[in-house]
Amino acid sequence: MTKGIPPTWFITGASSGIGLALARAAAARGDDIVAVARDVAPLSTLVDEHGPRVLALPVDVRSAAEVHGAVSRAVEAFGRIDVVANNAGYGLFGAVEESTDDQARAVFDTNVFGVLNVLRATLPVLRAQRSGHVLQGSSYYGRVAHPGVGLLSATKYAVEGLTDALVGELQPLGIKVTLVEPGPTATAFVSRLDVAGTIDDYDGTVRVVQKASAELPPEAFDDPDRVAAAILTAVDADRPPLRLVTGSFAVRSIRAALRGQLEELDAWAPTAEAVDRVPAA
Ligand SMILES: NC(=O)c1ccc[n+]([C@@H]2O[C@H](COP(=O)([O-])OP(=O)(O)OC[C@H]3O[C@@H](n4cnc5c(N)ncnc54)[C@H](OP(=O)(O)O)[C@@H]3O)[C@@H](O)[C@H]2O)c1
Repeated sequence: MTKGIPPTWFITGASSGIGLALARAAAARGDDIVAVARDVAPLSTLVDEHGPRVLALPVDVRSAAEVHGAVSRAVEAFGRIDVVANNAGYGLFGAVEESTDDQARAVFDTNVFGVLNVLRATLPVLRAQRSGHVLQGSSYYGRVAHPGVGLLSATKYAVEGLTDALVGELQPLGIKVTLVEPGPTATAFVSRLDVAGTIDDYDGTVRVVQKASAELPPEAFDDPDRVAAAILTAVDADRPPLRLVTGSFAVRSIRAALRGQLEELDAWAPTAEAVDRVPAA
């Protein structure tokens, strides 16, 4: 960020849910916004409210050409990009075996290859500036998984893995990186879920989770405006986190998973270390 100049955001998935809440919150404090989605109609109110400070562009993140075009338009309009919110995505629910090849490839196309398209198009701008902040749209499902979310989690784990490498590549170039890991949030995400076909053998696992999820009360879902506020806090921090978890359900789930992993690592360390050619000192 440059002192005295409002930061410019490039936000994907900005037409709904967390992305729209983020675009609204950043615009409300005077930042410049490039808001990207396939259907930009839901962004008309934001554009009307803020005029030329909000540029809404119809883009499918699966198209490298469309993403590059949008980044060129962003630089033409605002001269720079300070924060990239790589947020567009959707979910696929069903047992791993139930998801068809088409469904699995489609969710990777948006959630992973879309993220890569945005990185390839925006990072040249950020590297030239030697500044910027990349927010990678992950999920608590990027840290934990349970029956029914295998393919969705696979996409988010992929984003987590590439981002763990990315942070060390970008840090020397003056670019910050934060993985955003929301818990269940009240957006259009659940209504837009792709659902895989049914195999009876998964009724006792996947369908039980599906039923339990459908019966969750509204208060089980966090407010996207509060998620956006947490993201702004991270972006404004002198030392932003590599992983920003939002919602106490996500915090509890990730903490339990980490504890379990550490306990298992310790319990099996003697077996693991026994393969060393030279015994550890
Ligand atoms: N809600 C949750 O419980 C939750 C929890 C953890 C993580 N997340 C993550 O948060 C992110 C935002 O989701 P949300 O909850 O805000 O859901 P949402 O309300 O459904 O918003 C999804 C956004 O992504 C856009 N999008 C989807 N596919 C796209 C494509 N191919 N190209 C461009 N834009 C596309 C949608 O707009 P168009 O359809 O118009 O393109 C929309 O703006 C996702 O990455 C999701 O995995 C959500």
